Amino acid sequence: MSRSQIPSQLLAILVLLISWSSTTVFASQSLLTTPIKIRNATLDDAEQITTIIQEAFREAPHVKYVYEFMDHHPRHLFACLLEGVREALDNPNMMVQVAVLPNNSAPHDLVPVGIAFWEFPAAWSRSSSSWTSGPFLQSPKTLGMPEACVPLVNISRAIDFDHQFTVAWHEYLDKPYPRSQQYYLNTLATHPDYQRRGAGGALVKSGIEFGQRTNGNENVTATLIATEVGEPLYLHLNWESIKIFTVKSLDIVAGVREEWRFDIMKHGI
Ligand SMILES: *[C@@H]1O[C@H](CO)[C@@H](O)[C@H](O)[C@H]1NC(C)=O
Ligand SMILES: *[C@@H]1O[C@H](CO)[C@@H](O)[C@H](O)[C@H]1NC(C)=O
Ligand SMILES: *[C@@H]1O[C@H](CO)[C@@H](O)[C@H](O)[C@H]1NC(C)=O
Ligand SMILES: *[C@@H]1O[C@H](CO)[C@@H](O)[C@H](O)[C@H]1NC(C)=O
Repeated sequence: MSRSQIPSQLLAILVLLISWSSTTVFASQSLLTTPIKIRNATLDDAEQITTIIQEAFREAPHVKYVYEFMDHHPRHLFACLLEGVREALDNPNMMVQVAVLPNNSAPHDLVPVGIAFWEFPAAWSRSSSSWTSGPFLQSPKTLGMPEACVPLVNISRAIDFDHQFTVAWHEYLDKPYPRSQQYYLNTLATHPDYQRRGAGGALVKSGIEFGQRTNGNENVTATLIATEVGEPLYLHLNWESIKIFTVKSLDIVAGVREEWRFDIMKHGI
């Protein structure tokens, strides 16, 4: 299959899925020995953000399924993700924030250890283009998957996964909550070495507070699609489940078809 046949939003959806899976769990139950700082990301953070996403998603089962060959191509993996991260940082419809903590091995250095990518409602931004072609792929030069991603992905799996996911997304999220009414958390990830310190929770709260300050009188709801691993954090932070759906594997192994559960959630802002 040629590059041009790959759905344009594919990478977007995959990249955001992989990072959702690694959301910090029960962050607020952790010992908060150091105050977490949240700040807006800059292009200078791109590589650090890419590392966080890469380390955070590695073990997620649905990522291993779609990115079937990623372990064979570690440098491609970094390049593939970095391109998506740069697109997001360049996207005027998106706010990227980082949580900063002291480095474990060099405590005087503050380093980004968690990231959140929020998409503004179409109504807030100058254009709504990002909504139609996917958050990471809103410019013409990236209508296909970045070159570096191609060797990593099982294309049959990716297309089928993307299709099932997109159908559920449109049915359960975009019908009841049009894009102009969503302040959408498309990625949340914490580096595995720095989980359970509250970075994920602090990032979510910071984003919602920004939404509240910016919202004006718009009728806007914060939304996200959580994996099973991420869901407990959001429930703890008083997000409400709208709809649970599953995406199913193409394969039946030993009589079992693997499936992955997602929870579409909302929070008032
Ligand atoms: C952070 O980014 C948002 C969205 O681009 C912007 O509105 C806000 O002013 C920024 N905050 C700071 C402190 O720069
Ligand atoms: C923390 O510091 C060590 C030693 O200086 C460095 O190798 C490592 O990359 C740093 N970690 C982060 C997340 O920046
Ligand atoms: C891609 O995935 C399909 C479905 O799981 C599988 O049948 C096929 O063998 C995989 N392709 C490669 C090249 O591994
Ligand atoms: C706000 O949006 C929700 C969801 O789309 C809708 O049910 C509700 O009627 C809207 N309220 C107003 C005041 O527009």
